Amino acid sequence: MEVNDRDILNVKDLHVQVKTDNGSSTLVQDINFGIEKGKILGLVGESGSGKTVTSMSILQLHDKKNMDIRGSITLQGRELNGLENKEMRKIRGKDIAFIMQNPMNAFTPVFTIGHQFIETIKSHTLLNKKQAKKLAIDVMESVNLPDPYKLLKNYPFQLSGGMLQRVMIAMAACLQPSVIIADEPTTALDLHSQLLVLRLLDKIRSEYGTSILLISHDLGVISEMADDVIVMQHGRIVETANVLELFDNPRHEYTKKLLRTRPTLYSQKQPYTYML
Ligand SMILES: Nc1ncnc2c1ncn2[C@@H]1O[C@H](COP(=O)(O)OP(=O)(O)OP(=O)(O)O)[C@@H](O)[C@H]1O
Ligand SMILES: [Mg+2]
Repeated sequence: MEVNDRDILNVKDLHVQVKTDNGSSTLVQDINFGIEKGKILGLVGESGSGKTVTSMSILQLHDKKNMDIRGSITLQGRELNGLENKEMRKIRGKDIAFIMQNPMNAFTPVFTIGHQFIETIKSHTLLNKKQAKKLAIDVMESVNLPDPYKLLKNYPFQLSGGMLQRVMIAMAACLQPSVIIADEPTTALDLHSQLLVLRLLDKIRSEYGTSILLISHDLGVISEMADDVIVMQHGRIVETANVLELFDNPRHEYTKKLLRTRPTLYSQKQPYTYML
């Protein structure tokens, strides 16, 4: 993919190595892609192909003692690779939000959802507690989360995985980040919750113009959600295409294989087609 001025996020020649006892080993290499405003870029590939390593590199969450990240990662023209932790902490959450597979890990069990929601807002804005609470409730209402006042009083363990993931996404959306990285956001959820979460991501994209990097091994999810898709195998991008092109006319052997072996797209996952 060419570097494009319209890209909000751009990754160029990303190369990640992990230091080992006898030298170093490459985890991902020659990674190039960009995401335009309001677009969803799907990232697919089998387990171990380097999807999470790529997303953690963008977020600069690798342990720099063990990992060597080379290449350029720009967010609206600003280089992120090599930024100090302090700077990166300001960017994470505010400009790039991260939604992970297991929402339980994103919350601390001992505080209410409201406390964590409000503290997150306060740590990235100048809002006071009352204003932060109002923002949290407004956003939860705008994304159709039921009974936000009650939700805020709950502890994480009192909510289902699906509901927690939706709260997590509302939290991510309320600071209107330019990019959301969602790494397998629906994998741990039942089918109904998967649909709600995907709809929510799509609503946020259209409402706020957020660009989304959607990582999934589920081609059903990717086909419904993404504008463009990159396919990874063994730490490299093997194919980049518009989503319709990829499904109609996969070029790379690995993509063809992936499409042939998609297990659930036309069986139980079919509801995506008419429910989204
Ligand atoms: N901190 C690390 N140290 C050493 N190797 C790592 C580290 N993190 C990831 N790897 C290796 O890098 C490769 C890519 O891993 P990654 O987690 O990116 O895969 P993935 O595509 O996200 O897979 P999955 O679909 O299972 O989530 C794997 O071989 C993994 O073992
Ligand atoms: Mg992963």
